[in-house]
Amino acid sequence: LQNVPLFQELSQADLLGISPLFIEKKVKKGSILFLEGDAGEELFLIKSGVVKIYRLDEAKEIILALFRDGDFFGEMSLISAGLTRSATAETLEACTLYALKRTSFVQYMEKSPRLCLKLLETTMGRLRQANDQIYDLTFLGVRSRIIKTIIRLSEQHGIPAQDGLLINVKLTHQQLANMVGTVRESVTKVLQELQDDDLIQIDKKLITLKNVEAIKAEIR
Ligand code: CMP
Repeated sequence: LQNVPLFQELSQADLLGISPLFIEKKVKKGSILFLEGDAGEELFLIKSGVVKIYRLDEAKEIILALFRDGDFFGEMSLISAGLTRSATAETLEACTLYALKRTSFVQYMEKSPRLCLKLLETTMGRLRQANDQIYDLTFLGVRSRIIKTIIRLSEQHGIPAQDGLLINVKLTHQQLANMVGTVRESVTKVLQELQDDDLIQIDKKLITLKNVEAIKAEIR
């Protein structure tokens, strides 16, 4: 737990107290962890793998966030008592998760102002990002939104690679479209243009940003 940012500020004694309360869950790729509207019973931490948070409108999907090792999710319905899951969570890869029951989570929040502050800090970061998405959807065109999305993905999931910064999550064009709020064809077109301009490289659904500054200059 010491490596999980949310728990970094906890005292050694609190860490030792809370660790046994987590239940390890191994889940296959494509498993639904909970559905929007479910009662929230647990907080989840990701030990390994990637989880997609999304909402559905009939057959269409909007992806709100992608979380990976070290991230937590499922806190909103635990904190807002009486409210249900605000979105659906599904594994994009096989995952190892740690689940913490609501009562244990709330008990530790009451005991630890540092844990509360850390939780707030992360939540504020997510709110900032949601504000950015509202701004982008309101003011930017599809091409710029696609470019901003791959830059954001490179910040959250990027690892240094030979040719640049590799987004370490395999995403289909449809999934990228569902993050941007557009159609698959637009993603295919813009990614092809960026490849033609030698700004990105795509290999087996993995995108590498070759020159982040030059890609940022494409946003307008
Ligand atoms: P909860 O509402 O319990 O279940 C869905 C979870 O998805 C939610 O808690 C948050 O952890 C996460 N979540 C919902 N909306 C967003 C968002 N806009 N950005 C990041 N995470 C979110």
